[in-house]
Amino acid sequence: MQKLLQLLQDGEFHSGESLGRAIGLSRAGVWKRLQGLEAELGITIFRVRGRGYRLSSPLSLLRTDELGEGLAPYGWKAVLTESVSSTNAEALRLLSTGASGPLLVVAEKQSSGRGRRGRVWVSPYGANLYYSLGLQLDGGVYPLEGLSLTIGLAVRRALVEFGCETVGLKWPNDLLLDGRKIAGILIELAGDPSSICQVVIGIGINVNMTGAIADIDQPWASLQGHTGRLVDRTALALRLSHWLQRYLELHRENGFSGLRQEWEACHLWQGAEASLLAGPQRIDGVVLGVDQQGALRMQVAGEERHFSGGELSLRLRDDS
Ligand code: BTN
Repeated sequence: MQKLLQLLQDGEFHSGESLGRAIGLSRAGVWKRLQGLEAELGITIFRVRGRGYRLSSPLSLLRTDELGEGLAPYGWKAVLTESVSSTNAEALRLLSTGASGPLLVVAEKQSSGRGRRGRVWVSPYGANLYYSLGLQLDGGVYPLEGLSLTIGLAVRRALVEFGCETVGLKWPNDLLLDGRKIAGILIELAGDPSSICQVVIGIGINVNMTGAIADIDQPWASLQGHTGRLVDRTALALRLSHWLQRYLELHRENGFSGLRQEWEACHLWQGAEASLLAGPQRIDGVVLGVDQQGALRMQVAGEERHFSGGELSLRLRDDS
């Protein structure tokens, strides 16, 4: 963890001298180090003569020790990285090179955060939660059915606790607040899904991201944008882990079918007229809910049909 950024994360001014004293560098050394961090991490640091340095806005950096201690009772190991291409990719790499799960990888920044359907997940330094839980599965494909929908329920619980009472789900696993996306889930697999395989549950939550972000091509929300307060990302990661292990336990015991009712109760688009998009193909219908496996149930031309697959996406009906 960058000691300099820990000192600066409060967003207040700190003199070059006090920063230098704290990390054993000269004032010129501090200046050089901060320029390096700006370039490397994409953050903005203001320098004002006579006052020192401050971040353009306060950050809540992750506290490694607290995270490790909080996860120990679940038997999860925590790997906290400063910057990584993708926490999902890193968790898959660690599991495939001999690390045992459950293994949680969190990062302050992702340089190539991955979203569903090949999209990019924008992941600025210290702003949001980039969280991947890697598990080793040896029970065949059954526990994976509906898993991403189960995870959505866990994420929702954590968001409600942090002030988003009205957050809901959109099939298959988007979390929307006031019609805007606040969190997404990407599950990736390696190995043989019918026997031994590694599954990585990737969760991205927009936490303290505010302002205009040019690279996001859909309406989005964040916890800070909603509550007006800087959110403690370590506390959020811990509550998310709490709900995740609870819902994973329920999923292990009864599969998704035991959670189907709860999921439908949290589904924002129950009964909505919607279009299901699969590449260039579009199917119009009314959303009925989900089945025991988590597939979408839609009324299409007077008939109930079930749809599943990672490439599908749902839109509210637009006949224009
Ligand atoms: C979506 O498109 O809705 C899924 C977004 C998932 C983003 C998270 S951030 C942590 C993890 N690492 C990644 O590269 N992606 C997931």
